[in-house]
Amino acid sequence: MNRAAISPSAFPLTAKYDPQWVRDNALGENALCQVESLARHLPLRAGMRVLDLGCGKATSSIFLAREFGIQAWAADEATSPTENHKRAMELQCEASVFPLQVDAHSLPFAKEFFDAVIAIDSFLYFGTDDRYLGYLIQFVKPGGFIGVVDIAFTRELQSIEEAPGYLRPQYAKHWSYVHSVQWWKQHWEKTALVDVQCAELLPESDELLRDYVRGRLPGQDEDSIMRAVPRDHEGLISLFCLVARKC
Ligand SMILES: C[S@@+](CC[C@H](N)C(=O)[O-])C[C@H]1O[C@@H](n2cnc3c(N)ncnc32)[C@H](O)[C@@H]1O
Repeated sequence: MNRAAISPSAFPLTAKYDPQWVRDNALGENALCQVESLARHLPLRAGMRVLDLGCGKATSSIFLAREFGIQAWAADEATSPTENHKRAMELQCEASVFPLQVDAHSLPFAKEFFDAVIAIDSFLYFGTDDRYLGYLIQFVKPGGFIGVVDIAFTRELQSIEEAPGYLRPQYAKHWSYVHSVQWWKQHWEKTALVDVQCAELLPESDELLRDYVRGRLPGQDEDSIMRAVPRDHEGLISLFCLVARKC
């Protein structure tokens, strides 16, 4: 199995981390590569307060704390905060990574507390609701940022009839809420709450998706991405990056 597919020159900060640690703590595509890509569009500075929403095993929080000197609130509804705290301690950033177990719909923060909110491979779980951006943005300072990297389609599918055959068996459960970048841009712009500064497919999408599929061990349960990506010969499945500034 070729595990050297992600080019260190494309992700020089990620390349500093043990690939085994990244893989062992991944819940989806390489979280460090995704957050490194996102960070190129965010004006991160030491001391900033960043909410990492749906952080999973908090590797993106640890990465941002170490690489940019920010303070990260590593929030996830399912992952143990104790385990995330241990991971932060192991990488010497327990003073700047604050884990908590919380649902994205009941965030226990002061209004305008964060300089930025990020969501890596998690926003699709809650962010397609028309009301969600309006809820989340209240926790961001005026002029602060929201940045998302997640799965996208390269064209908007209006119905299951427009979906390729390999997506149809799991369409309602896994694919009906996946959208194009244009859809996401409009989804946020129509609120007039933010100024969208970046809405694009990740240039490294293909590399990251195929690396994820390759990295699954034989016998490991297939997930929807693993089943679909090898059958996607038209380049429908991709990753998108969406960054907006609070007005
Ligand atoms: C595919 S995993 C990605 C985790 C991590 N960001 C990464 O890239 O490794 C999605 C994460 O979103 C979290 N999540 C889903 N719905 C959530 C919600 N309503 N509130 C908080 N976290 C949620 C899940 O618990 C899971 O850890």
